[in-house]
Amino acid sequence: MRTSGPDTVDLVLCGGIVVTPDGMREGAVAVDQGKILALGSDAAMPPARQRIDVDGLHIIPGAIDVHVHFREPGFSYKETWATATAAAAIGGVTTVFDMPNTNPPTATPEAVRQKIAIASSQALVDFGIYGYVGEGNVDQLAAMAEAGAVAFKLYLGSDNPLVPCPNDGAVLDALSAIASLGLRCTTHAENTPILNWRGARLKADGRQDLAAHLEQHSDMATVEAVSRIALFSEWTGCPIHIAHENCRHSLPLIADAKRRGVNLTAETCPHYLFLSMDDAELAGGNALRVKPPVREAGHAKPLWDALKSGVIDMISTDHAPHARAEKLRSSIWDVAPGFPGVETSMRLMLNEVSKGRLSLPEYVRMACEAPARAFGLYPRKGSLQPGSDADIVVVDLAKSAVIRGTELQSLGNVTPFEGRQTIGAPVMTILRGMIVARYGHLVARPGIGQPVGQTPKGRS
Ligand code: NCD
Ligand code: ZN
Ligand code: ZN
Repeated sequence: MRTSGPDTVDLVLCGGIVVTPDGMREGAVAVDQGKILALGSDAAMPPARQRIDVDGLHIIPGAIDVHVHFREPGFSYKETWATATAAAAIGGVTTVFDMPNTNPPTATPEAVRQKIAIASSQALVDFGIYGYVGEGNVDQLAAMAEAGAVAFKLYLGSDNPLVPCPNDGAVLDALSAIASLGLRCTTHAENTPILNWRGARLKADGRQDLAAHLEQHSDMATVEAVSRIALFSEWTGCPIHIAHENCRHSLPLIADAKRRGVNLTAETCPHYLFLSMDDAELAGGNALRVKPPVREAGHAKPLWDALKSGVIDMISTDHAPHARAEKLRSSIWDVAPGFPGVETSMRLMLNEVSKGRLSLPEYVRMACEAPARAFGLYPRKGSLQPGSDADIVVVDLAKSAVIRGTELQSLGNVTPFEGRQTIGAPVMTILRGMIVARYGHLVARPGIGQPVGQTPKGRS
């Protein structure tokens, strides 16, 4: 047994292929005190208390998912921080940003502190907490940031009374406030009056099918809101992140705003890249309901192109689990929108890598580096450079498996990817130097996850 000398580090992963957005190199990663210490050849690594030969597998940074709904407080029957972060860890995701549509909604400094406390006690991965932007709390946004909110969420498209859509006057005041805090505001970009008007008309017509949900969420509802929020961003200087982009008609607007220098970033999600209404039957029929909707065939290809070219910056999941009974209702208006995603996203994307549609460095750019940069975490997160947090995932590009909802860690087990075969999977997840998941099993205790942007627990 090796004795630990003064130069002995905590962990060395060797025999791998280290992936960064710039390329891939055979070699190893040394980790000490939760940080990346060095990258290099196996021979150049220092002695380590634990040395793991990954046997030719790829080593990437942990993924960052800036759009998840982990449901607590208020909806623990749908999901808990323990189950959701177990899903994240096994899915290769080491940092998540949680949305504020919980109960109570994350709309006050107190609610931010309450959610951080709940998450801290259960989490297996690091997390950021979103603060809700509404008409009633514009004067509290600074205090919410002080309490630990790392970004804000604006629902320009909401029928949820917990998180209603604020009027445009309040939105402008809020964006000015958020701009001065130096934070980013993630926006659900749909036009609420269009959704309400169309929804009422479709219901009055007796429509109850999945296609009616798509008709309600027309292209114009999202195109208008994307153009409005880009304009508001340009005039207030508030950095905006467009959530769950699903519509090809929004892409030229996003590209144009970026060309004008507007501080805009955008995400899309696996369900918009891999599914269309043509897949509805296979993807669970009404259970495919999600807001915004999976659209007709013909949107996925432009979304892929935008992701590859950087018009869309990153992949998120909009992980939105519900109880099975809430997903399996006959009228579309009664079906809870959304489904789990944090555990399957990396597998679905690596499957594209194995098919040659995406390179691993491109994936690292869109899943790790871009979200870290957009939300001010780079290079602490989303990077394997020396000094970064040692959030590391080992991926096996040859590992083949079938997605089964009932095998997911998440309490929400209705997935539109049910039965889909994927080649490529995360096989080891490391959070700040601690192994959290290995070959699909959790090997860490809940509570090791910490809020990002906060002083780490136990350190001053
Ligand atoms: C979200 C959820 O369930 O929290 N659902 C979804 O379809 N994305 C809420 C929402 O954004 O409407
Ligand atoms: Zn949304
Ligand atoms: Zn969402």
